[in-house]
Amino acid sequence: MTSPQRKILVTSALPYANGSIHLGHLLEHLQTDIWVRFQKTRGHDCTYVCADDAHGTPIMLKAQAENTSPEALIDAVYQEHTRDFADFHIAFDNYYSTHSEENRHYSNTIYNNLKSTGHISQRTIMQAYDESAGMFLPDRFIKGTCPKCKTEDQYGDSCESCGATYTPADLINPVSALSGATPVKKASEHYFFKLNHFETLLKEWITSGKLQPEIANKLQEWFDAGLQDWDISRDAPYWGFEIPNAPGKYFYVWLDAPIGYMASYQNLCDKTGQDFNDVWGKDSQAELYHFIGKDIAYFHTLFWPAILHGAGYRMPTAVFCHGFLTVDGAKMSKSRGTFIKARTYLDHLDPEYLRYYFAAKLNSHVEDIDLNLDDFVARVNSDLVGKAINIASRCAGFISKRFDGMLGDTIAEPALLAAFTEQSESIAHDYDARNYSKAIRNIMALADKANQYIAEKEPWKLIKQEDQQQAVQDICTTGINLFRILMIYLKPVLPVLAEKTEAFLNIPPLCWDDAQAPLLGHRINPFKAMMTRIEPEKVAAMVEASKEDLETAQQTVIAANENPNGPLADEITFEDFSKIDLRVAEIMAAEHVEAADKLLKLTLSLGNEERTVFAGIKSAYSPEDLVGRKTVMVANLKPRKMRFGLSEGMILAAGPGGSDLFLLSPDDGAEPGMKVK
Ligand code: 2FM
Ligand code: ZN
Repeated sequence: MTSPQRKILVTSALPYANGSIHLGHLLEHLQTDIWVRFQKTRGHDCTYVCADDAHGTPIMLKAQAENTSPEALIDAVYQEHTRDFADFHIAFDNYYSTHSEENRHYSNTIYNNLKSTGHISQRTIMQAYDESAGMFLPDRFIKGTCPKCKTEDQYGDSCESCGATYTPADLINPVSALSGATPVKKASEHYFFKLNHFETLLKEWITSGKLQPEIANKLQEWFDAGLQDWDISRDAPYWGFEIPNAPGKYFYVWLDAPIGYMASYQNLCDKTGQDFNDVWGKDSQAELYHFIGKDIAYFHTLFWPAILHGAGYRMPTAVFCHGFLTVDGAKMSKSRGTFIKARTYLDHLDPEYLRYYFAAKLNSHVEDIDLNLDDFVARVNSDLVGKAINIASRCAGFISKRFDGMLGDTIAEPALLAAFTEQSESIAHDYDARNYSKAIRNIMALADKANQYIAEKEPWKLIKQEDQQQAVQDICTTGINLFRILMIYLKPVLPVLAEKTEAFLNIPPLCWDDAQAPLLGHRINPFKAMMTRIEPEKVAAMVEASKEDLETAQQTVIAANENPNGPLADEITFEDFSKIDLRVAEIMAAEHVEAADKLLKLTLSLGNEERTVFAGIKSAYSPEDLVGRKTVMVANLKPRKMRFGLSEGMILAAGPGGSDLFLLSPDDGAEPGMKVK
């Protein structure tokens, strides 16, 4: 090992258990996974834990909307999340859930410790209450007109039109997003964490030099604005942990979420026999790092260290913040097909392409990272296939065919090999400092050198000369050793390519220090293609499929997840209504659409013409149930190009979605083509 062994615990932010993993999550989880894999290949005792963030109002309401229990919902999402992460080769040592006994234990312990040391206060506050839904409303569930720019239908915390932030009390004509009712004010007792008790501690933390400068500056602003009490309780009905000795009061999801890091680690310790306090105890010598996005810095750099310290645990060594992911220079967009789910990506592309591309762009700053789809194709094809793997494929054939698979005993160009091994510590330093883009730049500069060397030596010419056979073996042995070093350096980013390299070279798993000793006089296996080029058509298909995800989502869960019925839409005039041409349609044919989870392809008759419509009703109907039925369609909807073909209208169905979806049918006697009035 190059340096004394470090004991490190690493986390990524816990994804909410009410939605799919998308490329935004992956930016963070891949950044973390690369760092952890790097530490492991250096021989450090590095552990990576994460979990689903399984509590809170949105999860409770989504379960209600889907007519299921929160437990069943979070279990299903857990299965989906763990599969998605595994398929991106994200190697957690443990992936758990905040809805666990370990998390209840640590949430209660932390709360009790804070309470007994005077860091929790109680007081009655007035809050918006929805009388028809029978619950207090989180800010996000109150909508109304922006007090500043007067745009209608804005959330209770901020205006999407002018960017103003405010409280729901400031909204003009507030309504509950759950029922449409006007919220009333109702008193309730809440529990608060006294953040200002930790002012001195946090001041030191800000100036400790452990935080990124951008975050330290932001923190200073929050600090200057004054440290407010933090409301850590919510009233029933709530999906979470009930607060000890406070019936009907629950921990706010953001209190128990970061405690989920501890719970996941405890769960791992119970399996492996490690000691929880070696990491989390007050006197721990271990390092503790949280990788997070900039939007949740407040929770992790103010509340979390203060809570840990106040409750008698150690504070994080550092919090590593990254920026947001943009795609083609803009915020991920569902309508443009750039809001790409992990599974949609995996249906079309190799995960290592994305691992490499993110690595090539990530640095230690809180900058947004752009996935430019054209650049993605060009870069992966040129760097990985065109440069790195090319080195092996140019040398391997001679070794297998002419030298019976044996590498020679000497390196033809020791100075070149030394130039590669000498970079080991500087590349390691860049990984450790999360400057992956710099590490990748240096690795690719080495790949260029290796290719240049082979091009200059022209082994394919030398091989024709009887007296140059040894030279060819030495040149190719050098080339393959250069390739091997590059793969050691790329292993944290490309674990599967590294495995294929190990199989090709016929060696045990590579670790960082293996770069220092060349592989000589050793039999390797015949070279097999290790990675194919990205075909741009596959990227285009992924974008199209992401648009399809949206179409079906809109058709099946129109009322958003919060409420199956949804608030009534804004009033329209008769003139608006008369623009919609509703017709009776007969379903002549219905069939499954290959590779579309939610769609059926319907052929509809309007009497004197036929239409093809892709409808998101597969979860509720089989094709054979539909043929011969009459229904109602929007006949003048502008045709929309979908991945599977043109959709020429829309049929009408009611209900929250899933199997609860009901196709509208006219009474007997209605004929195809009749206008619905
Ligand atoms: O913002 C989010 O997606 C949260 N679920 C992150 C929680 S991170 C940690 F605190 F648990
Ligand atoms: Zn506004």
